[in-house]
Amino acid sequence: MADSRTSTVDLEALTSLAKRRGFIFQSSEIYGGVASTWDYGPLGVELKRNIKDAWWRKFVWERDDMVGLDSSILMHPEVWRASGHVDSFTDPLTDCKECRQRWREDQLAERKCPACGGELTEARNFNLMFKTFIGPVEDEASVAFLRPETAQGIFVNFENVLNSSRKRLPFGIAQIGKAFRNEITTGGFIFRTREFEMMEIEYFVEPGTDEQVHEQWIRDCLAWYTDLGVSKDRLRVRAHEADELSHYSKATYDVEYLFPWGWGEIQGIANRTDFDLKAHSERSGHGLTYFDQATNRRFTPYVVEPAAGVDRAAMTFLVDAYTEEEAPTADGGTQKRVLLKLHPTIAPVKVAVLPLSRNARLAPLARGVYDKVRGSGAVDGFVQYDDAQSIGRRYRRQDEIGTPLCVTVDFDSLDDNAVTIRERDTMKQTRVALDALASELGARLGA
Ligand code: GAP
Repeated sequence: MADSRTSTVDLEALTSLAKRRGFIFQSSEIYGGVASTWDYGPLGVELKRNIKDAWWRKFVWERDDMVGLDSSILMHPEVWRASGHVDSFTDPLTDCKECRQRWREDQLAERKCPACGGELTEARNFNLMFKTFIGPVEDEASVAFLRPETAQGIFVNFENVLNSSRKRLPFGIAQIGKAFRNEITTGGFIFRTREFEMMEIEYFVEPGTDEQVHEQWIRDCLAWYTDLGVSKDRLRVRAHEADELSHYSKATYDVEYLFPWGWGEIQGIANRTDFDLKAHSERSGHGLTYFDQATNRRFTPYVVEPAAGVDRAAMTFLVDAYTEEEAPTADGGTQKRVLLKLHPTIAPVKVAVLPLSRNARLAPLARGVYDKVRGSGAVDGFVQYDDAQSIGRRYRRQDEIGTPLCVTVDFDSLDDNAVTIRERDTMKQTRVALDALASELGARLGA
């Protein structure tokens, strides 16, 4: 059901902050850019890395029923015939006869061009897979596809992983990697792009247990976002209608987030049944089955598939964290403060070390503090040293990029061997002895 609520975040303000502060740049910008392709800058790359690490930690390292995989982007073209992507991974494409703009027919409210109101052509199925050629000859025999999902790399390696890891059902294989889709319509900043990163799990179970396992995965996936601070009231789970289901799915639930333009899918959790393992068994002639020693039975496992987008997770964390508030000033007034209330696990910079000034006596002490914090092991992530401009401006800059803690080294530090920790959300300042700094930061960041 459509929901009339929208998030209050101004997407333009967020996009501009993302560029200004080095999160996300338009790809090939000096050549005028390429539509809907983005580059992650120094802070964006930390944000994405933190998201992927948090996901891997929760769904691989903290469980005893998961292993990982990193399969190649280019695969045998038969993979995509068996999986159904060559025939069925299509969107209905329609062109405006007047202005020539292209649209996805299933996303249109009416059968006329949303841009100019012009008449539309009959829809035709457009395959979303990018084609390329393997080797120097560009003929039909050398056609290959850039993978549109990482899942198939997991299915075709099912036996390799099973034999080498000696896992028993139920167990899952996780993979993080790039995927490519020649989307007809893109947009919403990094929401829908043609090149993106996925975090996928294929969780293999005994048929008959699949529905219960599916429900558990929905709960676990939702909890991953809320544990990392995403607002509960901006998340929902939506079941796919029968006519929305992918060709392989018995049931799919989407985790959706309330973006500035309305609800949008950030993760799909599908019950893929035994569709893929059977399809690859038939097409390759290599049986992908499981032998259950307890019951002496051989069967094809069912698969529950939690599939999330890294870029959509990044978008979710950024939108959810973006805050504008009135903050008190030293002269008793107020001023607008922009901050990203990112969970410390996700924040690109965990701690910023700020000398009060560039004074020659302060700098060596502050540099020493910076080296100590980075080398202590208590802070698991990026630490920044910032001595440019006034302390107030530096606090604002760190607030804007979501740094949870600033460590300020001032002239008293030269005498009392202590520094001030400033918290991003509360702006509360606490004096801490240098000896206790690393452990104090670790505790506050939840390390
Ligand atoms: N293997 C299952 C699968 O591919 P999907 O729902 O098509 O399922 C999974 O994709 C997730 O990948 C989505 O929930 C979304 O987060 C992300 N995703 C899909 N298409 C995307 C695109 N064009 N741009 C950015 N992220 C995308």
